[in-house]
Amino acid sequence: MSVSSATQPMIYNPPKDFAKQAHVPSLEAYETEWRRSINDPEGYWGEVAAESHFFKKWDRVLEWNPPMAKWFAGGQTNVCYNCLDFQIEKGLGDHPAIIWEGEPAAADGTPKQQVTLSYRQLHARVCRFANALKKLGIKKNDRVTIYLPMVPELTIAMLACARIGAPHSVIFGGFSAQAIADRLTDADSHHIITSDGGWRRGSVVPLKSNVDEACKLVDKVSKVIVLKHCNNDVHWDAGRDIWWSDAIDGMSEDCAAEKLDAEHMLFLLYTSGSTGKPKGILHTTAGYMVYTRHSAKQVFDYKPDDVYWCTADIGWITGHSYIVYGPLQNGVTSVMYEGAPNFPDWERFWQICERYGVTKFYTAPTAIRAFMKQGAELPKKHDLSSLKLLGTVGEPINPAAWAWYNEHIGGNRCPIIDTWWQTETGGVMITPLPGATPTKPGSATRPFFGIDAAVVDHSGTPVEPNESGLLVIRKPWPGMLRGVYGDEARYRKQYWSEIEGCYFTGDSARCDEDGYFWIIGRVDDVIKVSGHRLGTAEIESALVSHPKVAEAAVIGFPDEMTGEAIAAFVTVKSGVNVSEDLKQELRQHVSRTLGAIAKPKDVRFTDGLPKTRSGKIMRRLLRELATTGSVKGDITTLEDLTTIAKLNGEAS
Ligand code: WT7
Repeated sequence: MSVSSATQPMIYNPPKDFAKQAHVPSLEAYETEWRRSINDPEGYWGEVAAESHFFKKWDRVLEWNPPMAKWFAGGQTNVCYNCLDFQIEKGLGDHPAIIWEGEPAAADGTPKQQVTLSYRQLHARVCRFANALKKLGIKKNDRVTIYLPMVPELTIAMLACARIGAPHSVIFGGFSAQAIADRLTDADSHHIITSDGGWRRGSVVPLKSNVDEACKLVDKVSKVIVLKHCNNDVHWDAGRDIWWSDAIDGMSEDCAAEKLDAEHMLFLLYTSGSTGKPKGILHTTAGYMVYTRHSAKQVFDYKPDDVYWCTADIGWITGHSYIVYGPLQNGVTSVMYEGAPNFPDWERFWQICERYGVTKFYTAPTAIRAFMKQGAELPKKHDLSSLKLLGTVGEPINPAAWAWYNEHIGGNRCPIIDTWWQTETGGVMITPLPGATPTKPGSATRPFFGIDAAVVDHSGTPVEPNESGLLVIRKPWPGMLRGVYGDEARYRKQYWSEIEGCYFTGDSARCDEDGYFWIIGRVDDVIKVSGHRLGTAEIESALVSHPKVAEAAVIGFPDEMTGEAIAAFVTVKSGVNVSEDLKQELRQHVSRTLGAIAKPKDVRFTDGLPKTRSGKIMRRLLRELATTGSVKGDITTLEDLTTIAKLNGEAS
């Protein structure tokens, strides 16, 4: 890519050859279309939606009673139909929809298990499984919990649910029994789809036994469908459990897609916020469908022969939108890999790119930093010349990682798109368009079509260029969340009351003189560890559930590999002796309660936590302490000055 400015941060123009063939081939084309999308959102989205399949056309594009949106109201459609039947009607029946590779491999990385499913084959499997779900008594509107490894059956299960109108709630396989139980309760879900286990770094993650434990914690699960995947031994409850293979036995490969109202609930996805209770982010049918299709097409500049690989787990929104729903609605081939990036060694990702001729590759900055640490010799051993575009998501990408990605993976020839978005937004919101937008490493650049993003102060007034402020979205968009499941008050308060008339993202940002957005980070109590979102309150409540802990405060502090890491400040109950063993025990305790991703990197014992006179923990001071080693900042609102003196002197 060419460099066109030396004074500003580096600017990389879209490679000319890429621009020539792109859906949006120039900055002018982007700006013209963006302006139109903002001036006439209903006209714009109506036109975009006309490229999707609807059983019945909508009456109105948008009904907006802030903060309640209805998109394509009066219309009827089915997302699964759009992903499968509609593609087959377009002649893509024999085109590969999914290329899957399991983790187990020979020492040279040759996989022991591979599956390719054409659109027609995927359609048949989804219909068969949808019929099995119906036979087990699952009906439209029943929430189905899915706790599976990254296997084709995960995509099949989601699409089958979408086909019959049963909202899915996918839980990331790294979460523990308690986390499953909390989500089952909140969603009031009676059905679980799981597997005996999943492969991770050569060992079996015992998914079924986590489900068994969760079922002991909540007494509401009537059926557990179990996929045999790792062949590990499992406990069996004959009245409740059924093997996947038995469930689909004799089922027909025909299953008509339900005609669903535009605002029918498509799925719940739980994410962390500023309280201890995870929020069930609610997405509905038509708006999410149209937004993921359109954004995926433009952002990844999909072409019919693309072999596209997003390395995220489907347990997160990235996987929902850009492994399953976005790519399949565009008829491209979506690669799925089950396991760890370093199994059997750090060449695995590049072997996969080479093996399948991956053309577009989407990953997280934390992964890039991990590869960087292993050295450029590893990707160099592989033919990565099929790659045409690289993407990142989840946290800001530091310029050094950007440069490494550009040179050693993209061969200085691929545009890099840094995409900013959230579980709540459903799809990408701020992003370069690869053939149009000059990029500046570290900036997610400009808003996507229909997105009215701004950086404002607390009164909602835009701040000056390059001044930091709060990132808001000033207009509704089709992919937006429709609520927090069962908690309308939380939806209104969390997202729509901070800044009047705007959706508040929880992020701070600045916008430069070219209208480029630079994301600074969260302003709430959310921590991003390796791009995963964790709430300080959830981790604190896990810590205080330990019998020896009196009080705990959790903060995020900068970490070279994971972006942020978790530090926990803990006061123990009187009479408890603190020790290195207790530190390890507490780290394990959090890991068992929430899942390994929430395990604190650092646990420090302290006699007291710094609090304001009203009793609020001053996390700012703890953050300063964890980052710089001492507290020098403003402590005038601190209740007990000796706590900081002690923390400065004693914390270890
Ligand atoms: C938060 C949302 C959306 C998929 C993965 C994360 C941060 C996300 C970027 C980016 C800087 C980013 C924000 C956001 N974030 N993408 N490109 N640059 N920060 O989804 O778990 O809902 O987290 O991730 O802080 O608010 P999520």
